[in-house]
Amino acid sequence: MKCNRLVDAGRRQFLRGGMMATAGAVASTVMTPEQAKAQAQGLARVDYPANRLANVADLEVNEPLDVSYPDPDSPGVLLKLGQAVEGGVGPDGDIVAFSVLCPHKGWMMSYSADDKTLNCPGHHSRFDCESGGQQIWGHATSNLAQFQLSVDDDGEIFANGVDELIYGRLSNVL
Ligand code: FES
Repeated sequence: MKCNRLVDAGRRQFLRGGMMATAGAVASTVMTPEQAKAQAQGLARVDYPANRLANVADLEVNEPLDVSYPDPDSPGVLLKLGQAVEGGVGPDGDIVAFSVLCPHKGWMMSYSADDKTLNCPGHHSRFDCESGGQQIWGHATSNLAQFQLSVDDDGEIFANGVDELIYGRLSNVL
């Protein structure tokens, strides 16, 4: 009889300890929805620099200008397309910029002035510069990363962000 009481007491002590441990674990991991959202966004976002790329006066219609953004390891192209387009800035709403690293496997792409596309020599993916870098052909599974631009009163063109993941990077979504 005495032995059974000791066993019961031990069982209760064990259960109490387990409950305390569980409560502690729950208390340490519970977040409000706002905290969880902020944490998830923190993992996906980076702070972009506002980098000067060129001046409006430097650009000729349909002649690509090599740039890089957000750092020298991320090559891109600045274009004046000659007509207002999605994401276009400047007096004519026709200036855009894109990463030239193919989102499929990172080959360096080249601009075709004939149809205003960026073309990959790797596996022939093609992207429409007049439609926000939309993929129109090939192996890639996402559209092209477009640089977010602004133009100041002096015609200076700045990049301020990127709308898709640049190839090879883990975290750069706006
Ligand atoms: Fe561009 Fe494969 S690397 S399509």
